[in-house]
Amino acid sequence: PQQRQGVGGAAFNFGHLKVQSKLSVFLTMIILFVYLFYCLNGFCEYLPTPVYDRKKFPQAIIIGVKKGGTRALLEFLRIHPDVRAVGAEPHFFDRFYDKGLDWYRNLMPRTLDGQITMEKTPSYFITKEAPRRVFSMSRHTKLIVVVRDPVTRAVSDYTQTVSKSPGLPSFKNLAFRNATTGLIDTSWSAVRIGIYAKHLENWLRYFPLSSFLFVSGERLVTDPAGEMGRVQDFLGLKRVVTDKHFYFNQTKGFPCLKKPEGSSRPRCLGKSKGRPHPQIPSDVLLRLRDFYRPFNLKFYQMTGQNFGWDDTA
Ligand SMILES: *[C@@H]1O[C@H](CO)[C@@H](O)[C@H](O)[C@H]1NC(C)=O
Ligand SMILES: *[C@@H]1O[C@H](CO)[C@@H](O)[C@H](O)[C@H]1NC(C)=O
Repeated sequence: PQQRQGVGGAAFNFGHLKVQSKLSVFLTMIILFVYLFYCLNGFCEYLPTPVYDRKKFPQAIIIGVKKGGTRALLEFLRIHPDVRAVGAEPHFFDRFYDKGLDWYRNLMPRTLDGQITMEKTPSYFITKEAPRRVFSMSRHTKLIVVVRDPVTRAVSDYTQTVSKSPGLPSFKNLAFRNATTGLIDTSWSAVRIGIYAKHLENWLRYFPLSSFLFVSGERLVTDPAGEMGRVQDFLGLKRVVTDKHFYFNQTKGFPCLKKPEGSSRPRCLGKSKGRPHPQIPSDVLLRLRDFYRPFNLKFYQMTGQNFGWDDTA
């Protein structure tokens, strides 16, 4: 009888275990279903996700301007360990807005806690709908605009375009609506982009001035470390990128980025400087300078910063 009791006891214990495991499977299922239910309702975003594995909307965007030095600025910022940036220009707020915010966030690199996500698309600055769209993503977005003398910017813009499509009419033909009267064609993008005050007005309808940092494209060349100091302060970053990251290439006449030993060729500002510049009559440039002067002064007033483009004119 002792044996039978033993067997019976074992059977009972076995049965007890079975009941327990069935119960735990049942509970696990319930938890899974509750979790799924929450996720389907979109609550998952509020559940904690691993810190090393998260794509965030950019907290800071370089919104302009074309040929201002935005590529260089982003290259310089990339040295900072607390900055992660998208490689290509996403063009979300101008071209691909209908793809939706999830599509946009998915383009972003994964970041650690405390790292800043960034992107740059220089055409945002001149896109009418961009301020409203960026605002509706986050009103706290930090906006960086690299600006440069609008006349040299227009020439640089044209130089780039003509190098891709050599059949283009001359700069003069495109810049003037009527060369006799000297009427400037403001619908030509190379001219239009440089009317900074107009574009900024559009942005200030949504964002306060304190949301912006205006980087001087000229100073980014003459004093990259100084300008990078301002950028890092604005982004709330430690000043990691300093003058020890740059050296001046005398042959090129431009600052370059120091890279670790054995890495790819040096990154320098003024890459397009090698391109042959088209000869543009000086009277055309003077007329263009006159055209921009009032807009430049307005821009200095709006930003509280004198960029000095008209000082020598
Ligand atoms: C340019 O302006 C002059 C002077 O007003 C006028 O006679 C001429 O027809 C204009 N040319 C064009 C192409 O509009
Ligand atoms: C400086 O620039 C010239 C011309 O682009 C290049 O050939 C040279 O390798 C550069 N020197 C350094 C140290 O980067």
